[in-house]
Amino acid sequence: MKICTSIPETRKELEKLRSDGSRIALVPTMGALHDGHLELIREAYSHADKVVVSIFVNPVQFGPNEDYETYPRETDRDSGKCRSEGVSLIFSPDASEMYSDKKLSIEIDELNRHMCGASRPGFFEGVLLVVNKLFNIVRPDVALFGQKDIQQFQLIRKMAEEFNHDIELVMVPVVRANDGLALSSRNAYLSEEERLAAPLLYRSLLYIEKQISGGVNSPKMLLSHQRSELEAKGFKIDYLNLFDLQTLQPVERLSSRQKAVIAGAAWMGKTRLIDNILIEF
Ligand code: PAJ
Repeated sequence: MKICTSIPETRKELEKLRSDGSRIALVPTMGALHDGHLELIREAYSHADKVVVSIFVNPVQFGPNEDYETYPRETDRDSGKCRSEGVSLIFSPDASEMYSDKKLSIEIDELNRHMCGASRPGFFEGVLLVVNKLFNIVRPDVALFGQKDIQQFQLIRKMAEEFNHDIELVMVPVVRANDGLALSSRNAYLSEEERLAAPLLYRSLLYIEKQISGGVNSPKMLLSHQRSELEAKGFKIDYLNLFDLQTLQPVERLSSRQKAVIAGAAWMGKTRLIDNILIEF
């Protein structure tokens, strides 16, 4: 397994990896790899012959008061995990390699108006910028992302389409701990007590899903009740709502065969948790 920090070196290694006609998969990450990330790598082998993992804590997707400085960095453990999964190449540049002369950015329209886009100004602009760069550096045949970050996936899909990236995109279902909590590098911030309460977010999504499957097509009251329940259990709700999967706008009333996502983001102490469930009414 090669570990490259520079862009020219990465391109040279990729040329070698491709020389036998191999299909290349890219799994972009910010490191502190857990089973969610590893599932993306494993799934990648169903779509490609060789897997490239990028590990880069991308400064431009963090707001001024967010956790860029304290975000977990576990380089050696991450490379060990990648090696065990058979990864061919890790691309782990530093910020100056990626942003030596940054003058441009990507603007996002109404797809950014709700969910995480609303509460984290500049976040998805930073995500799209780095993923765009990673796509151009690695030029993968296929790239894999997690459903846990559903708005991120939908935005990347739109970017790939609009910017004509000739890359297949695969969304991998949310990987969870035994008690239902969606795995996240940020779960490491939770205290023992907070960790015990954290799965309630997912349980609340499941409850909403059950009610909707049972015929509730106008879930306003249901959602508002679940928000209060979670607040009473110690969460500070950022959003908990039903969104159309394509437009990412809130859905007041579900129509038949509409694809939607029940999505929530909530603070548990100083940790921001997100989760979602896909539904089709
Ligand atoms: P990061 O949070 O490290 O996540 C990397 C990838 O792993 C993302 O596609 C994310 O959706 C996926 N992932 C994380 N937890 C998961 C889980 N429990 N189940 C399934 N997939 C999971 O997302 C980012 O990094 C960054 O924004 C990035 C795309 C790398 C751009 O900087």
